[in-house]
Amino acid sequence: SFRNIMELLLSLPLAVVLDSGLSFWIKMFVMGPPDPILGVTEAFKKDTNPKKMNLGVGAYRDDQGKPFVLSCVRKAEALIAAKQLDKEYLPIGGLGEFSKACAQLALGSDNEVLKTGRSITVQTISGTGSLRIGANFLSRFHGGPRDVYLPKPSWGNHTPIFRDAGMQLKAYRYYDPSTCGFDFKGALEDISKIPEQSVILLHACAHNPTGVDPKPEQWKEIAELVKNRNLLVFFDMAYQGFASGDIDRDAWAVRHFIEQGHNIVLSQSFAKNMGLYGERVGGFTVVCKDADEAKRVESQLKILIRPIYSNPPMNGARIATTILNTPELRALWLEEVHGMANRIIKMREQLVDGLKKEGSTHNWQHVIDQIGMFCFTGLKPEQVERLTKEFSVYMTKDGRISMAGVSSGNVAYLAHGIHAVTK
Ligand SMILES: Cc1ncc(COP(=O)(O)O)c(C=O)c1O
Repeated sequence: SFRNIMELLLSLPLAVVLDSGLSFWIKMFVMGPPDPILGVTEAFKKDTNPKKMNLGVGAYRDDQGKPFVLSCVRKAEALIAAKQLDKEYLPIGGLGEFSKACAQLALGSDNEVLKTGRSITVQTISGTGSLRIGANFLSRFHGGPRDVYLPKPSWGNHTPIFRDAGMQLKAYRYYDPSTCGFDFKGALEDISKIPEQSVILLHACAHNPTGVDPKPEQWKEIAELVKNRNLLVFFDMAYQGFASGDIDRDAWAVRHFIEQGHNIVLSQSFAKNMGLYGERVGGFTVVCKDADEAKRVESQLKILIRPIYSNPPMNGARIATTILNTPELRALWLEEVHGMANRIIKMREQLVDGLKKEGSTHNWQHVIDQIGMFCFTGLKPEQVERLTKEFSVYMTKDGRISMAGVSSGNVAYLAHGIHAVTK
């Protein structure tokens, strides 16, 4: 009877009754895996070994192992604070002065594209936000195949960024494990088979995770092939200045492609080269056929951005703009970028010296040859696991280490650990 059923229900624990109710969600929530890079930091934090090293995340540390705020940034902040500026909303596309300086930094201020006004740059939420706006833009407007070709391997976040925007991911050969270097032949072979009008993503410099970049002569061939295949080029430039210490040298590939007539799209980040990680400032640029098209693209980017985050945050953009547009601060910045890049280059050399001193007979030349923040050591997953377990050295499973986390104080310990697991 109804009464019996009610009595039975009332006798059940309340949670069971609630649990049996209809869920609001179409799928149960399964526990997701931790982020492959940020998850490493979580594990690192729990380790009590005083010698522990976190070489997972790509954030620069000074030679004392401390997070580093550039003095040009501190000075720019002081200038901005003294002005007592308001905190009104920025326009949808961000701070106009910033976008201009950002594009000039990438393309060079005398670039024909900028002089004729046939490009549009919007301020974005660092490099990730820029890539995502770019991915959404492709998803909405790209007329060719919905495929984006990534180098194999690529930065771990590229795949979900483009996938979540509705694009499909494909790959071209890039890294050769047998040489720990660039697989030029493999890359050319694969690129020559990419269907016309597809999108190809290129890391402008300091390829993440491998630290392997094409040489200028190789870039030239790639540019020609990509043109023959009629591919849309998406440049990701997250490390301008960080690779060689020279902002113009690091932008060489981007400028060369434009000179060769490629109407590229470009993502920029100021996280690494200005140390503005948490300020989240970057840019997204579309090079168009003429100034008129650039205006129309701008209008569409605004329509795309407005319902996502309305308009970008101002603080990082003010800092970056002040540095780029104040001659003394710009000069100081260039010095400091150079300093960061050089410290990393020195650590690469000291790591290899340390490995030799430990008695390692392997060829570690790639550690020196690779460029930028990361080093693809060639360590196997089991060796990585031992390095973490026995030496508290934390890194991603693919054997990538962030050289930016290595310092004079811990480089010998790292060499000791790597030798112990690769003997
Ligand atoms: C290749 C590449 N692109 C883009 C980014 C974006 O970084 P952020 O969103 O912090 O600017 C990174 C950061 O690690 C990167 O390595």
